[in-house]
Amino acid sequence: MILETGRVVSTEQVADLGTLIVVSAPLVASRAHAGQFVHVRPGERFDPLLRRPYSFNGIDRRAGEIELLVKPLGPGGGWIAERHPGDALDLLGPLGTSFVVRRATTHLLLVAGGTGIAPMKVLAEQESARRNVTLVMGGRTIHHLWPAHRLPLAVEYVTTTEDGSFGVRGRVTDALPSYLTWADQLCACGPWPMLAAIGRLREEAARATTVVPGKDVVMDAQIAVEQHMGCAMGVCRACVIVTEHGNARVCREGPVFSLGDVRFEGGEPATVGLTA
Ligand SMILES: Cc1cc2nc3c(=O)[nH]c(=O)nc-3n(C[C@H](O)[C@H](O)[C@H](O)COP(=O)(O)OP(=O)(O)OC[C@H]3O[C@@H](n4cnc5c(N)ncnc54)[C@H](O)[C@@H]3O)c2cc1C
Ligand code: FES
Repeated sequence: MILETGRVVSTEQVADLGTLIVVSAPLVASRAHAGQFVHVRPGERFDPLLRRPYSFNGIDRRAGEIELLVKPLGPGGGWIAERHPGDALDLLGPLGTSFVVRRATTHLLLVAGGTGIAPMKVLAEQESARRNVTLVMGGRTIHHLWPAHRLPLAVEYVTTTEDGSFGVRGRVTDALPSYLTWADQLCACGPWPMLAAIGRLREEAARATTVVPGKDVVMDAQIAVEQHMGCAMGVCRACVIVTEHGNARVCREGPVFSLGDVRFEGGEPATVGLTA
């Protein structure tokens, strides 16, 4: 883990998804992996006090730069999203676990919702030169989708919108079944209800007594979850979720988990795991 003062290189609004911030941070960039995050200090004084976690949306080791996609939900994200080129950004990272793409994977299926596009975009950029990659992204409207021109040409990009303004009308999980039969590995990141819906597909596949196409893929899926964080160093336990192995800290044991390990019925993020 590194404490580094990054320097903002550029900022740009990406529709309603958030502000895309490119930061020069050679030390963090040199160690970053898809699925990991940086804990960003959201100010120069003590209010807001707590750092805010953001996934890597891009990792350019050669240029020594990282990319963050910041949705300004409150004061911390708001301050970070308002930075200008040349501003300093206090970064702690890379933190947490990362996605592991198996060497034997030939058809990689990525699933994203909202700012969960961040680690999926990194995987798409890193993996599309080595294997077939399909990215399925869902949003409320066309304005909540990642722009296609910011993905490698080799990536097959499938979109769903809830209002039908672009792509397939519906949610990502409506588009998934046909791609599950194509893929041999699945990675996903997005809001808790989206991940829980993929978790239900897994449960149905596990219970089925007949052959389910794509069963192995969903049984073996990896997901990155978001949770409120305090220290991001495994100490405060603010980020706990419930897993098959008991409480797990998203900042340490996660944010990347095996889909089958997360007990979605244990509570949405912002609840605090098992009490006993
Ligand atoms: C590993 C990880 C990676 C993340 N990556 C990104 C990313 O790439 N881009 C991005 O925009 N955000 C990301 N987040 C979420 C982001 O860190 C939080 O939303 C952050 O608290 C926003 O700070 P804020 O000051 O804007 O809002 P705050 O004032 O902290 O919160 C505003 C509102 O959002 C709610 N909220 C805050 N955090 C969460 C959460 N994790 N889950 C559910 N509700 C929450 C609060 O309850 C409150 O209602 C990530 C979180 C984690 C744990
Ligand atoms: S944020 Fe403190 S233990 Fe995870």
